[in-house]
Amino acid sequence: MKKINIALTKGRLEKEAIKIFEAMNVNVDELKNKGRRLIFNCKNSFYDINFFLVKAPDVVTYVEYGAADIGIVGKDTLFETNKEFYEVLDLKIGECKFAVASLPGFKIDDGYRNEYRKKKIATKYPGVARKYFSKRGQDVEIIKIEGSVELAPIVKLADAIVDIVETGETLRENGLVIVDDICNISARMIVNKASMKTKREEIMKIIEETSKIIN
Ligand code: PRP
Repeated sequence: MKKINIALTKGRLEKEAIKIFEAMNVNVDELKNKGRRLIFNCKNSFYDINFFLVKAPDVVTYVEYGAADIGIVGKDTLFETNKEFYEVLDLKIGECKFAVASLPGFKIDDGYRNEYRKKKIATKYPGVARKYFSKRGQDVEIIKIEGSVELAPIVKLADAIVDIVETGETLRENGLVIVDDICNISARMIVNKASMKTKREEIMKIIEETSKIIN
């Protein structure tokens, strides 16, 4: 049995991802009570897995370089990367959507054509935002920020935002409204291309067992 390294996204997706492995009878006790440790070995007669917990974009980096054979990461992060990997499963966890939002009164269609000034769009996802507005033929200025994106229209850093909406609570509490939905997103399982060949048996077993649990 070959050891499989799995990179999990820290934070929001962590609990739900751990639940999937728990349902596969992987002993995840240490992972649940992790303290400040970053790597956990979970071994039984079916699996020998090292789990790492890292930030979402780093999951993709670990998988691309083969330091992780498998990664669990949101589609939002995958949209923003051009790294190499196989995307093998929609895990149907961490379901949310990309949306354009702003203060009430903002109209998405009165873009540059009717105004002298380009609209400013704040986002953690410049690739997604650029693609959305360029499809609409709107020339906007994208401002990349790292978090708490909802603040941007309130303090007039931007006219609108492109961000993830899950429950909608952050928008509501900050007086913002959805202007347009972009697309749905959820967590995906990704696999290193070489590992898919060299550790095929172990990886296929994990993919098959995971599919049974999520379906
Ligand atoms: C995400 C996203 C929104 C919020 C949406 O931010 O960027 O701000 O969650 O969730 P809701 O619709 O359930 O309110 P996150 O909490 O990951 O932190 P960040 O603002 O620091 O990016």
